[in-house]
Amino acid sequence: MSQSARREFLKAAGVGAMALTASSQTAQASANERLTLAIIGPGGMGSSHTRLLSARKDVEIKYVCDVDNQRTAKAAELVASSSGRKPEQLGDMRRVFDDKEVDAVFIATPDHWHAPATLLALDAGKHVYVEKPCCHNIREGRLMSDAVARTGKCLQVGTQSRSTRVIEDAMKRIHNGEIGEVLVAKAWNSQRRRSIGKTSPGQPPKHLDFENWIGPAPSVDYRTNLLHANWRWWHDFGCGDIGNDGVHDIDVALWGLGVDTHPSTATCLGGKYFFDDDQQFPDTQYAVFEYPTKGAPAGRSKQLIFEQRIWSPYKQEGYENGATFYGTDGILILGHTQGWKMYGPRMKLLAENSGPVELARHHTNFLDCLRGTQTVLNADIKAGHLAATIVHLANIAARTGSVLQFDPERETITNNEGANQLIRRQYRTHWGTPQGV
Ligand SMILES: NC(=O)c1ccc[n+]([C@@H]2O[C@H](COP(=O)([O-])OP(=O)(O)OC[C@H]3O[C@@H](n4cnc5c(N)ncnc54)[C@H](O)[C@@H]3O)[C@@H](O)[C@H]2O)c1
Repeated sequence: MSQSARREFLKAAGVGAMALTASSQTAQASANERLTLAIIGPGGMGSSHTRLLSARKDVEIKYVCDVDNQRTAKAAELVASSSGRKPEQLGDMRRVFDDKEVDAVFIATPDHWHAPATLLALDAGKHVYVEKPCCHNIREGRLMSDAVARTGKCLQVGTQSRSTRVIEDAMKRIHNGEIGEVLVAKAWNSQRRRSIGKTSPGQPPKHLDFENWIGPAPSVDYRTNLLHANWRWWHDFGCGDIGNDGVHDIDVALWGLGVDTHPSTATCLGGKYFFDDDQQFPDTQYAVFEYPTKGAPAGRSKQLIFEQRIWSPYKQEGYENGATFYGTDGILILGHTQGWKMYGPRMKLLAENSGPVELARHHTNFLDCLRGTQTVLNADIKAGHLAATIVHLANIAARTGSVLQFDPERETITNNEGANQLIRRQYRTHWGTPQGV
């Protein structure tokens, strides 16, 4: 976020000059320093962060923290072999937050820990890079936005498409009007996933602190198809594939569509059409969202569509995951990890580009904002919260079988009290339970 945008944001949030000054001081104090980091949850994606960050000369990874001590050991080896310095290995993230030397934390835990860990970190004065979807439910996204405003700290969400040059190029062309006025965007997730099977409760392995893996979520029995990684298919811990792969393309679709608010109407049909296993989220989804007309030419709403079939090897429009932008003068079809093609009337190819996703560049943007050498976070909490809200509204609409009227300002569902209950979750008593939920 730019300094002026940050100032506006803080002003709107009622945060005075003190927080702003504190944040500017943090940035200036760190301008020429090596930044001290901690990785929380160095599992699948957390290992990718660890690998890239430990190869950098401008940061030091002081801690790797995971409730699975096999994973901390592996991550510590990775950092040592890459940087020559072995980090401390922790199982309790509060020890990271207590260390005044730590400038920022990278949070790559399962989704149910994103908001609780982020809130603790921000309130301890840390900058935060948190994986997508930034929150497990809509209410948590609001709490995170408020905490950024309150603390003035930087929060980058792990939607690295926002720092990927080939995607930036596509967005620039769309926003410059090269395919006319874009009124509809469609994101999709079409790929063949595996069954997670059906399991019975069992005993967690000794190297895992399962109680703190669950954290503030409701208590459940350990199962072999719950972790690692498979938590994303369970309501209490993940958000389904729409919140996993889907949210990247939803985020890009919103970026191209140019909406800076939540939708006012959301609906979704879907369910488990294919998998006969323990997964709790739809394997098949078709969701539609309408945005208020405010600010648009008279009477023109904008629409977002999301499609998901995770049992089909079919590459829609040539890409497993992607987004298409429908303009009055043409369309642009974008593959999440490959590139894009832009067509004019009669499908005349106007331009194309290709290139890889740039995770390291996303890190650099975050670290530069901490140092004050860049002022705009490419994936700030506003973008993260808007994209995550789409995920949550689609899942709520599918679970309740309804068309939801959503108040974008108050972030409440106004026409279905049962659905409105699902904008937040139940927590158990735990040190990670967020305040004010
Ligand atoms: N940006 C991307 O492209 C991308 C890609 C894959 C995954 N992700 C995201 O990364 C996150 C992790 O996904 P994953 O597939 O690596 O999952 P994973 O289960 O493999 O890894 C999560 C790790 O967090 C640890 N953990 C859980 N609770 C913890 C706690 N209280 N303290 C410390 N560590 C804790 C687990 O033990 C595990 O090692 C998810 O939010 C996912 O959506 C992002």
